[in-house]
Amino acid sequence: MTFREMTPTSPSDKTAIRRELKRRRRILSAEQQKQAALALCQRLRKLPEICRARRISLYLPVNGEIDPTPLIPWLRQRRVAIYLPVLRPFSDNSLWFVAYGDTTPMVKNRFGIAEPCPRFAAQRRNRLPAWALDTLMVPLVGFDQHANRMGMGGGFYDRSLAFMRRPGPAPTLIGVAHACQQVDTLPIEPWDIPLNAVVSDTGVVRPTKTG
Ligand SMILES: Nc1ncnc2c1ncn2[C@@H]1O[C@H](COP(=O)(O)OP(=O)(O)OP(=O)(O)O)[C@@H](O)[C@H]1O
Ligand SMILES: [Mg+2]
Repeated sequence: MTFREMTPTSPSDKTAIRRELKRRRRILSAEQQKQAALALCQRLRKLPEICRARRISLYLPVNGEIDPTPLIPWLRQRRVAIYLPVLRPFSDNSLWFVAYGDTTPMVKNRFGIAEPCPRFAAQRRNRLPAWALDTLMVPLVGFDQHANRMGMGGGFYDRSLAFMRRPGPAPTLIGVAHACQQVDTLPIEPWDIPLNAVVSDTGVVRPTKTG
């Protein structure tokens, strides 16, 4: 299946693209995953938006997502504060960002993703709203040549980052993905929040400048 000549518009198109791209990353071997994670982290270490960040959010990979965690020792050495996205309780399916250390108590959320436990996250000193992060690493299912992003389809990141449409403090958004998750063109929805860059194991894609 190729999306080369495709101009996707309908929700079913998005579903088909998601299915194919999720398949591509799921079939990667453990060795391929390991190599990709190391190559990704080499690139991330050179990215200005990562180098200057003092508060950074990353994620623990599931379902074949590329693994950004080899970056953690490097970040800790540089005394960067590390956060993980956590499903916000009693909210409209949005995320907040909870401190992640070696001793942080973890539980699995309703999607089977490990996250800091609710008791820990409930303490104000342990969490930050997205606007207070310097850089946020965003997992994705697909990206294109303009750094447009397609996620898992829940709208969690789009909803949590909707405040970025208004002026004010905001994190830099770095999408991270396997190179095999790139397609030529993705459909963009009005609610999609644009990324500053996508970093993969083979390169960095930045949005085309407009205006
Ligand atoms: N700011 C928002 N407020 C309310 N609903 C939203 C918002 N942003 C996205 N959504 C809803 O989320 C749904 C999924 O959006 P979309 O297909 O862009 O997901 P995605 O970008 O793949 O997911 P994610 O952001 O979790 O990675 C959409 O149907 C949309 O209605
Ligand atoms: Mg979206």
